[in-house]
Amino acid sequence: MVVKDNYSLREHNTFGIEAKASRFFEYTSVEELQAFVRERAASGDESPLLHIGGGSNLLFLKDFEGTILHSSMQEIYVTANEGDYVYVRVSAGIEWDAWVQYAVDSRWYGLENLSLIPGEVGASAVQNIGAYGAEAKDFIIFVDAVDLQTGEIRHFTAEECRYGYRDSIFKHELRGRYAVTHVHFRLSHEFRPRLDYSGLRRALEQRGYDETNLTAEQLRQTIIEVRREKLPEPTELGNAGSFFTNPIVERSTFERLLKEYPDMPHYEIDSTSVKIPAGWLIERCGWKGKALGRAGVYERQALVLVNLGGATGEDIKALCERIQADVKEKFDVAIVPEVNFIA
Ligand code: EPU
Repeated sequence: MVVKDNYSLREHNTFGIEAKASRFFEYTSVEELQAFVRERAASGDESPLLHIGGGSNLLFLKDFEGTILHSSMQEIYVTANEGDYVYVRVSAGIEWDAWVQYAVDSRWYGLENLSLIPGEVGASAVQNIGAYGAEAKDFIIFVDAVDLQTGEIRHFTAEECRYGYRDSIFKHELRGRYAVTHVHFRLSHEFRPRLDYSGLRRALEQRGYDETNLTAEQLRQTIIEVRREKLPEPTELGNAGSFFTNPIVERSTFERLLKEYPDMPHYEIDSTSVKIPAGWLIERCGWKGKALGRAGVYERQALVLVNLGGATGEDIKALCERIQADVKEKFDVAIVPEVNFIA
């Protein structure tokens, strides 16, 4: 294990915000995490705990007066091979995209559209990460976690995780209560590409790939290139991917907006609700490529807020609030951050 006091979190958040944690505890086994939790409970320590992954969805508003937990466990283990499927247990501390690459190399299929999403495997099960028509929940069978109050191990089925759009029980009732230690995935031995997301077929054609004998590696490379065109590299420009979730509005709201903006992109959810891209709403408010102090709106994708250099968490938050107010005023639609604010 690694324990550090008064530790800079700059390398642990993709926004590149300078904030310190009173203590940083990195564990290499479930037993080490359990021992930490039990000792802490016995000593009556009630300072805050925060378990992080790759820090790609966090905004530190100030120094963290507590302990940051991080897993450095790195195992990928096949638990079963049955018929069309392989079942794989993956440690929470593995980089998400390293896992996707490993799966593609192993000819285990399904995760290709989720290539290059920043963050670690544990966070994928909390956040239900998604892109290009696929979501982590489509492949998660169950999740192993440690109760941060008692140290007990608990298994959650995918149903118990209550997955929704960028959502799970770990963001609501059980927020902060469990540390995900392993995620169990079910992947397919047969490659069945999902190409329905708008623009994906065109991107494949442009690269001269033939849909009828496409390989998983070709699809993965295409997704990587498409993402790189639209999303900034955190090492070059601090950011946390999509800053807001796309609002799901009532059909009456959608119809009101469509009358005024006939070209508004949208995705049908069900008979009563429609999803509208927040990036489009923000762009229409004139924010794309603009800045407020050291916090900016990315010039190629208005859904992404960026650290233009030396921004604090409060700088990013101030920009967020201005954008929310403008979207509310222009469209009467509320947009909500996807990023977790840590105060
Ligand atoms: N759009 C604009 N202006 C912008 C950005 C987008 O008009 O500045 C329009 C686009 O033209 C398009 C629509 O909005 O018609 C949707 O844009 P895009 O396909 O880029 O996807 P998104 O809704 O902005 C979502 C995810 C991304 C994911 C992409 C691709 C959320 C919150 N975000 O973005 O996920 O990569 O789809 O599947 O659902 C993330 O969560 O961090 C993330 C990057």
